[in-house]
This record gives sequence, structure tokens and C-alpha cells, in this order.
Amino acid sequence: MVKVTFLGHGCVLLEASQGKVVIDPFLTGNPLAKTKPGEIQVDAVLVTHGHGDHLGDTVEIAKANNALVVAPFELATFVGNQGVNAHPMHIGGAREFPFGWVKLTPAAHGSAYVDDGQTVYTGNPCGFLVKMDGKLIYHAGDTGLIADMDLLGKLYEIDLALLPIGDNFTMGPADAVEAVKMIKPKVVIPIHYNTWDLIAQDPQAFCSKVKAETQAQCIILDVGDSYQV
Ligand code: NI
Ligand code: MN
Repeated sequence: MVKVTFLGHGCVLLEASQGKVVIDPFLTGNPLAKTKPGEIQVDAVLVTHGHGDHLGDTVEIAKANNALVVAPFELATFVGNQGVNAHPMHIGGAREFPFGWVKLTPAAHGSAYVDDGQTVYTGNPCGFLVKMDGKLIYHAGDTGLIADMDLLGKLYEIDLALLPIGDNFTMGPADAVEAVKMIKPKVVIPIHYNTWDLIAQDPQAFCSKVKAETQAQCIILDVGDSYQV
């Protein structure tokens, strides 16, 4: 069993008997976040791309927990240079870690660390398939709708898909419903919306459409709430 806690925006905490993992820990500066980086206790930090609203507090959390950062090669190198233990992977690659199995999936987006006028290229963005305690969870990262999602539905039985619905930077609700049709997860939870006005969306409307057009169950998590997979 995996306890999935939504920490706001793209940030999700996965807690299983096998270990604890946080994905895209953007807490400092996240207007929705109720959790402080110092409260996060994990074995690993998974990061989909270098944008500030995903890389977030990765370095602080990794150092405080002596946690492994798993990210695409260029991004792993970037955080590794900041003194954390980082494991590089890339799209299509999978690996068994003590805390679970991880595979990097394609995402159609950008990836650079942009701060104070300085831009550091951090490789291709990704999504993650994570298997813990026998449950398969897909975190799409920031992505538009891509036909590659059809492969995920064909090759895997995904228990839970975490999909962005905010639009503007990622899929909007209509495209995310199409993604659900391809991925065919048992459960979908919308993420990456309502953090700012620019990505304001109605998750109820999204879930109604998922219910009407797909077999998946759609769950809306308030920030801080959990769902057991
Ligand atoms: Ni992004
Ligand atoms: Mn984002």
C-alpha cells in the first residue's frame, strides 16, 4: 500500500513500507503549500525538470535527509554539484532502488534552471513511473498531451496517474482527459493547477469529464490530503 499525499502544485509525497519518496518538492514560495521543507522525511527526491516550481527545495531536503536525488542526467549533475547525492537517469531508463522501482518517461516541456538572469540547461524534462509495494504510480511531470502516453496504457497497468491540468504551461483539462483515455489508470488525481491565476482550473469539472468519458476513478486532493493506493 502506498500513501499518496498532495503537497501542492506538482509536489507529491509517496510513503510505502519500502520507503518514502517526494516528487518535485516546490514548497518554499509555493502559495498553496502548507508543509515546510524541514518537515519532509524521505529516502529519495525525484525531480522531473529544472524549473523552479519543480526543483524547488530539492537540495535542502536531500541534504537534511541524506536522501538520493533521482533526475535526468543533466539535472542530476547540476544538483550533484551542489553537494547532494544524485543518481542520473534518462528517458526510457529504469532502475530498482531500495525504496522502489523508477522509470523515466517522456514529457513534452522545457527544462532549465532560471534564476537571477542566469539560465542553466538541465536536459530533457521527464515524468516518472514509480513502483512501491507493488503499486504502480505515474507522475507525468509538466507535459503537453503526447501520443507516448498510449504506450504507457499498453505496457503497464497503472494504479494511479498524477496528471497536470493547469493549461498554459502543460495539458489543460480537455487534453488531460484524452491522456486518461490512453494511460487507462485505475485512478487519476489532477495536479499543477490553481497555484496561480494563470493555471486556474476547476478540478470538479475535470473529474466529471473523466467519469463520463473513461473508466478511471478521479480523486481531487486538497493540499495536505492523502489517498491510499
Ligand atoms: Ni515546468
Ligand atoms: Mn511547472
